[in-house]
Amino acid sequence: MISEKIREDFPVLQNNKGLIYFDNAATSLKPIQVIEAVNYYYKNLGANVHRGNHHLSQQATQLYEKSRKETSKFLGAKEDEIVFTRNATESINAVCVGLERQKYFSKGDEIIITALEHHANIVPWQELCKRTGAVLKIAKLNEDFTLNMRDLQEKVSKKTKLVSVGHASNTVASILPVKEIGKIAHDSGALFLVDAAQSVPHFEVSTKKIDADFLAISSHKMLGPTGVGILYGKKDLLEKMPPYNYGGSMISKVSYEKTEWAPLPEKFEAGTMPIAEVIGFGEAIKYLKKIGMENIHAHEKKLLSHALEKMRKIEGVKLYCPQDAEKQGGIVLFEVKGIDAVDLGVALDESKNIATRSGMHCAEPIVSSLNSKGLGRASFYLYNTIEEIDIFVDEVTAISNAFK
Ligand code: ALA
Repeated sequence: MISEKIREDFPVLQNNKGLIYFDNAATSLKPIQVIEAVNYYYKNLGANVHRGNHHLSQQATQLYEKSRKETSKFLGAKEDEIVFTRNATESINAVCVGLERQKYFSKGDEIIITALEHHANIVPWQELCKRTGAVLKIAKLNEDFTLNMRDLQEKVSKKTKLVSVGHASNTVASILPVKEIGKIAHDSGALFLVDAAQSVPHFEVSTKKIDADFLAISSHKMLGPTGVGILYGKKDLLEKMPPYNYGGSMISKVSYEKTEWAPLPEKFEAGTMPIAEVIGFGEAIKYLKKIGMENIHAHEKKLLSHALEKMRKIEGVKLYCPQDAEKQGGIVLFEVKGIDAVDLGVALDESKNIATRSGMHCAEPIVSSLNSKGLGRASFYLYNTIEEIDIFVDEVTAISNAFK
């Protein structure tokens, strides 16, 4: 059980009375503990990390590395398998560019993604295919928006060099059986990447259990600051993979003739990193652990089941998700007959202060195949309540009636 008292920790909820924040798949709100950790750095330390011999730099470095330790424990990884980036998109691009520089892909090799991917797990591979002659294959979905495992299995072959999938969809909301998918990838000798931006914030994910080779997440979707992404990679793979950014801090020795890379994870952290934000991210993990990932998951399932049950009954509303809390995350993708998704989003905001997202959701291939003008989306998190869902459902009903 999550107490409604936690809402007091979120200044945006306190400073916007009556706000119903259902845009959590875009970004989550931040608790005061995270904001204070960021402020602490700026007010008391302000120094760069891994560079200075003075005590402020050393204290900043300690806090920065403490966040890495928290992250590694949270994901069941080793500390040097955790690389800080700027967002999950950059984490995926780091693997894409790194593997390309390693000459991992050749003409005719295949990369498999699924039909529910976010642009971050489509565009980098599409571009890589143009450069290398590799071929991108798309595994299909079933009618209920879950992944068609038979199609995936049929597409994986000896030519497959990488299987890269979203763990939880930011649109149709399906949760993919990543452990099974990883086994299929590894059995054929392919690498396995998981875009976990929409799963790690909502339920426990262990890199060991799912046996991902690479995993990408974003701090801002899990109560942390913007500007921080996390790339997990198995140590031996990160050691082999060339860096994607070159510059200060990622080196151990530089001369005009040649440069040697720093050991992991610094090899992948070129330039000054978002120090305050990484420190804030460590605090976000502490906050999530204090509430408990199991409690967060159970709470979201309760909210989702309630929303699905009520929304199914609204005349003129069509849902695009598995409609089963065991198969999907806390997201409802929907349309209201007779009204454009963007107009619907504006109406919900103006009438009842409900923040949702409308449009293509950075996943145009899947969303445009369902509605060429885009869809509405309500996405839930730990601070949302059943009462908020009831207000939302009543308003969607009123809008639907008005556009009959
Ligand atoms: N990928 C984010 C979303 O789904 C921004 O809204």
